[in-house]
Amino acid sequence: MPVIDGMELLKSTKEQFPLIEFIMVTGHGTIERAVEAIKAGAYDFISKPFKRADMLRIVEKALEKFSLARENSFLKQQLAEIEHQKHNFIGSSSHAREIKSLVRRIANTPSNILISGESGTGKEVIARMIHNNSDRMDKPFVAVNCGAISEHLMESELFGHLKGSFTGAIRDKEGLFISAKNGTLFLDEISTIPLNLQVKLLRALEEHEVLPVGSTKTYPIAARIIAASNRDLQKEVAENRFREDLFFRLNVIEVNIPPLRQRAEDIQLLTTYFIERMNKGLNKNVQGVSVEALHALQAHSWPGNVRELENVIERAMIFCDDELILSKHLPPMFLAQENNSPTSLKEAVAHFEKKHIGTILTLTNGDKKEAARLLDLGVSSLYRKISELGLEK
Ligand SMILES: Nc1ncnc2c1ncn2[C@@H]1O[C@H](COP(=O)(O)OP(=O)(O)O)[C@@H](O)[C@H]1O
Ligand SMILES: [Mg+2]
Repeated sequence: MPVIDGMELLKSTKEQFPLIEFIMVTGHGTIERAVEAIKAGAYDFISKPFKRADMLRIVEKALEKFSLARENSFLKQQLAEIEHQKHNFIGSSSHAREIKSLVRRIANTPSNILISGESGTGKEVIARMIHNNSDRMDKPFVAVNCGAISEHLMESELFGHLKGSFTGAIRDKEGLFISAKNGTLFLDEISTIPLNLQVKLLRALEEHEVLPVGSTKTYPIAARIIAASNRDLQKEVAENRFREDLFFRLNVIEVNIPPLRQRAEDIQLLTTYFIERMNKGLNKNVQGVSVEALHALQAHSWPGNVRELENVIERAMIFCDDELILSKHLPPMFLAQENNSPTSLKEAVAHFEKKHIGTILTLTNGDKKEAARLLDLGVSSLYRKISELGLEK
């Protein structure tokens, strides 16, 4: 070869592109040269004259190795990104720092954990973070939203069933407790589990085994249980909607996530984080938020917590063609707050009520019963407020 020889080419290329595989071909092969090439990172070595079939075999193997390595590094990069984006509890407030240090302390224990906090505060983020910081990280993480499963299917979802145990059970089904293997089972919205099933859940947790529907044989469970609730479980216990013994069994360690309005310090960091993450997805190059917009974000009460913030930022990014997110890119509600501030107390209260009830109704997609529950109002009082405040639209 002119200018540099094969060995030099191998060395300098490997340095820059370690994934590229080399097969050295030489007319005057010696053992020494072969050893030197392999040491420098060549995949294999063949001397002239060689058989076509021999060369093909080596090339095929090298390609196989190359594609595996490439896939691997791609997956790792993706994993790192997912890890970074989805399962990282972002926050620098003292609340956030306390939560993160608690998570590190409890992650690697087998104890049951109860995560409490309003909707959208990051309960699932914390559950995944606990899993990812434990030695179960490479085992399954199975999340189930108990509120989203109909009551009569919940038992078989959780514990499994045998073929023929009820109409529609056309084959055996493995329950989620078993699917989670020796990983983590995340039971979200645990307060929605009906009382009769709470008994069975308690039994499963105490005996470390499950009884599938229609089965007489129990199966051992090895998964670690993390439960979450956006309702105050102690209140549910006091009002006989949740079994006290199950509450104690689940609540070995409690992680409470305060609402975003109690850690407004986190708003700026979260906003930056969401902007950076969404720049990629939305193909934008937004650099940050203006001071006014940031103040408006910090003044908001965030009934939907971080989930609401995430949505507000996404919306703002879509409307933003500038370098910065400005107040005008925020939902109209944020502007109203700045421009026509009411002066009398009565007006101010009505203004706030209207805004707050409006947010909650948006959050519940107009479901008035759910909105009344969140607002801690009677349904009829909510209807009255809606008409008084002109919120029908
Ligand atoms: N501290 C946080 N850092 C980053 N993202 C967060 C944080 N808290 C919540 N999120 C995001 O907000 C949304 C709601 O979080 P989630 O864990 O589902 O809340 P919850 O389970 O309490 O309703 C998710 O998209 C999540 O990624
Ligand atoms: Mg959730």
